[in-house]
Amino acid sequence: MKILVTGGCGFIGSHLIDALVLSGHEVISFDRDEPPKWQNSGAVYIKGNVCDNLDSLMAHKFDVIYHLAAEVGSGLSMANPYIFSHANSLGTTNLIQAMRKCGKYAIFIVASSACVYGEASYICKSHGRQFPDLRPVSQLQKGQWEVKCPECGEDMQADGIEENRILNPASIYGITKLEQEVTSLLLGRTWDFPCVAYRFFGVFGPRQSLGNPYTGVLALFATRVFAGLPIVHYEDGGQNKSYIHIDDVIRSMLIPLENEAAYGKAFNIGSEEPVTIRGIAERLVAKINPNIEITTIGKFRASDTRHMWPNIDYARKIMKWKPDISFEQGMDSLIEWMGGLPSSAIKDSVSFFEKAEKYAKSYGLEV
Ligand SMILES: NC(=O)c1ccc[n+]([C@@H]2O[C@H](COP(=O)([O-])OP(=O)(O)OC[C@H]3O[C@@H](n4cnc5c(N)ncnc54)[C@H](O)[C@@H]3O)[C@@H](O)[C@H]2O)c1
Ligand SMILES: [Zn+2]
Repeated sequence: MKILVTGGCGFIGSHLIDALVLSGHEVISFDRDEPPKWQNSGAVYIKGNVCDNLDSLMAHKFDVIYHLAAEVGSGLSMANPYIFSHANSLGTTNLIQAMRKCGKYAIFIVASSACVYGEASYICKSHGRQFPDLRPVSQLQKGQWEVKCPECGEDMQADGIEENRILNPASIYGITKLEQEVTSLLLGRTWDFPCVAYRFFGVFGPRQSLGNPYTGVLALFATRVFAGLPIVHYEDGGQNKSYIHIDDVIRSMLIPLENEAAYGKAFNIGSEEPVTIRGIAERLVAKINPNIEITTIGKFRASDTRHMWPNIDYARKIMKWKPDISFEQGMDSLIEWMGGLPSSAIKDSVSFFEKAEKYAKSYGLEV
């Protein structure tokens, strides 16, 4: 098949291209960045922006389009909403309209995100299932970390997020991911092309961005341990988050090429086994450098969700997909890759993160 991957120079895109080339497909990688050194030589690279005129790109008349190109990062999106809506929301309509104009519809696969949900799903002992907003700053200032029931104010128990719950993004990034997803699915239904949306939950593994704050604590903590710096975490470290290895994600993304059952639907793609932030820090320190100190400064970021992991029953049922790689195995693969990086790459990532933090702070925000 002839396949386009937008954002093909990124973390997920580059792994996807490797898998597609390996399966014998003809692949074009479209990205505004220069190809990184790991870019698969079996794919053709075209430099460009998804917001520009795409007529010559679409003249290839693709059978499948994976739309991964996006501005990423919840905190950063609050510092510059325009850039995010332009690239993500407008970029998606532009791409789909260019596809229509070229006269051939492709199977259209769009990358959405767990950020479409906002805070996780919870259960109150007295009031049942709840979909609360982010915790109020006044609560966090008291050091009360757990999410409280909007009805009775009692602490609630987090639960795996299901696809069909209320969507309540808590950042401009989340809003644009939701818009990308619903726009693609709606136009797919209306114009009659197959479309599948993937709501990714914390993807990790080799090649992931280490300095971008959106990358999640796993990579940020690992970078600090490799740099010999202490890990400082927010709240009490009891935040439950889940991470899914890139290889499991890529396997899920190949399914719509062979199975029509996924068409017209949005799926959670993530791990159902949450780990605490403190637990992640402890495991990384034990595996990489036991001399590194882990401390909490009791601080918080108002934009953080407390807990976050998916229920993946829908993907299991419709796509017959589930993750195969345990968190432990995935961590080993990340650590092995990071261990092979030059120390300058680790140093650059630490300073990139600090720069992003300063940039967000200059807007009165957190990364
Ligand atoms: N990695 C995760 O954990 C995760 C989680 C949820 C959703 N996602 C989504 O998956 C997709 C891929 O994520 P990733 O982790 O590989 O990110 P990434 O930043 O590594 O890759 C994104 C790529 O898109 C390119 N890009 C950005 N704007 C562009 C534009 N206007 N025109 C052309 N190219 C552009 C960038 O140059 C980059 O190479 C994104 O849509 C992201 O929102 C990722
Ligand atoms: Zn209650």
